[in-house]
Amino acid sequence: MKRDFLAIPDFTREELIETIYLAKELKMLTKFGKCPKPLEGKSVGLIFHKASLRTRISFEVGVAQLGGNAIYITDNEIKLGQRETIHDAAIVLSRYLGMIMIRTFNHNDVVELAKYATVPVINGLTDLLHPCQVVCDLLTVLEHKGRLENLKIAYIGDGNNMTNSWLNASKLLKLDLRIGTASSCEPDKNILKEAKKAGMSRITLTNDPKEAVKDADVIYTDVWASMGQKDQIEKKERLLKAFQLNAKLLKYANENAIVMHCLPAERGREITDEVMDGKQSVVFDEAENRLHGQKAIMMKLLNVI
Ligand code: CP
Ligand code: NVA
Repeated sequence: MKRDFLAIPDFTREELIETIYLAKELKMLTKFGKCPKPLEGKSVGLIFHKASLRTRISFEVGVAQLGGNAIYITDNEIKLGQRETIHDAAIVLSRYLGMIMIRTFNHNDVVELAKYATVPVINGLTDLLHPCQVVCDLLTVLEHKGRLENLKIAYIGDGNNMTNSWLNASKLLKLDLRIGTASSCEPDKNILKEAKKAGMSRITLTNDPKEAVKDADVIYTDVWASMGQKDQIEKKERLLKAFQLNAKLLKYANENAIVMHCLPAERGREITDEVMDGKQSVVFDEAENRLHGQKAIMMKLLNVI
């Protein structure tokens, strides 16, 4: 049966850990020019309804490194759900492609595409979730912290698709996840409830940024207004200014804490230059690891390991 990756819990705990270790191995193999080629003869469709630097380029390069061919598709061509139903488009695309990655607004559109596609579908970001980013970020955590569990992870800022994806990761990995945000910017209530119910991790939601960051091993932030909500930036800025990741706030963390941001960053808003360019920052390692993490996700879905 074909597998999809729309949310982190689409993997079991074992599969998630295996994927991160596979990503580590692929990074090394690629550096020695020995990346495996399981996508030879296969085409992967990359559908984008939102802008992208990292996701687009890392998927295109990743598919090529795995021996396949990537096709960049925007709504100019397919007008998903408008020229024809998502159902019909899913069936047609599956007759040509070996896999589909989609970045769009409404998460339900991705669920619908995956339901009718007969090839694996990967969520490349929706308003609700950005699961590829967190899998790849876990590789960065592993590289810098030497472990994936028993870490204090502070997420500071807007409760968005990144926050929801960290909550999903906390269902499978044992974390001490602290979310520091304003009361009107909290993450998805249902995902938060389910993550707490899973009972794997300690989860704290606080409106006090210092409480979230205190003794943290990893501090994560993201833009205050995500794609599709950029008109809300002034309101968000008012609500979230106490959650800016700056040198003063960073002092409350463990002195070896790493600073993470999925990028793109709005320097001077959610993160200062001093912190983003500081010695604790691993933000560009995160960007690099998108390439290897996503190759591992694709291989896992094709069951070639
Ligand atoms: N982090 C991330 O997904 O970046 P892009 O929006 O540039 O793809
Ligand atoms: N939360 C951000 C992540 C970008 C990678 C957004 O959705 O715009």
